[in-house]
Amino acid sequence: MKVDFIRDGDHLRVDDATAAYFNEMDHHEAHAGYHTICRSVYRAAKGVPPALGGDLISQGIDVIRNCIEPGTGAEFSARIDAAIGQSTPPNTTVPLNDEFRADLGALLHQVLSDAVVAMVEHYMGSHFRVVQCQLYRTETGGEPHVSFLWHRDMEPMAQVHIMVYLTASGPDDPGTAFLSVEDTRRLADNGYAFPQFAERIADVAQALPPGAQAPKVIRPDLAAGDATIFGAPRLLHRGVDGRGGKRDVFLVNLLPSLVPWHHDISRFGTGHLFWDDAISDTLLTDPFALILKPAPRFSGKPVSDWVIKGNLLPDGFD
Ligand SMILES: [Fe+2]
Repeated sequence: MKVDFIRDGDHLRVDDATAAYFNEMDHHEAHAGYHTICRSVYRAAKGVPPALGGDLISQGIDVIRNCIEPGTGAEFSARIDAAIGQSTPPNTTVPLNDEFRADLGALLHQVLSDAVVAMVEHYMGSHFRVVQCQLYRTETGGEPHVSFLWHRDMEPMAQVHIMVYLTASGPDDPGTAFLSVEDTRRLADNGYAFPQFAERIADVAQALPPGAQAPKVIRPDLAAGDATIFGAPRLLHRGVDGRGGKRDVFLVNLLPSLVPWHHDISRFGTGHLFWDDAISDTLLTDPFALILKPAPRFSGKPVSDWVIKGNLLPDGFD
């Protein structure tokens, strides 16, 4: 189809008819449609991204060492101590005043180094935007949270999460465990893809037939300042609450864009990246908008086969 672009300062808009065409589709396809347009624009300007290799492409999860300086992580962790007062283990979302938001917004320039930008552009085949950020503390104890059982996040398939560790996470500390895309597909083939809360399990091998090779659990050891980067809708993962430690994380969520991420920041600032309510569903946002806004939670309706399989795009989308 013919897509027309309208230049809008440092941004590009897609013509209304094209946006309406894709927004008529289901939410995953609407986001995939926008993604393919972003890819075609990127390819036309820069050619096919260089083959960087790396674990983000091959298994869907990679580690970024020294994503931020360890001392910066410690400073933010101390500010979390002061901001949360009484925590609510296992997970406490940190309340953020305007100053805290602005400082986290500024931290994005450290997190999204040239190397990280290249990694994400290679993965998506396009530019990307920061869609949303969160700051939270994980501690041992409390009622097990649904995110501590194996799951995939119901969000646009291209979404990438960067979890910047402000505190170190060794084997006994709170952290996140992952399966590769390949093992996740094996589980999907056996009916375990996007389980409802009540159907989520802690031992993922139980979802495979007896005698099947157990999936390899990826649980990187991380120093303060390191980060994990992963495709949360494409990989099974779970939080682990450890044995007495605490983990402070700055979570940065990315989606495809027609222009580099910093164009949004120079034009709109960083305030829009911190969504106030508990509703944080990126899937229901309109991907053709210049700024994505929080939307009501996913309805739970069945999703398409290409989503279940963990593909980046539907068949026939490039
Ligand atoms: Fe998750």
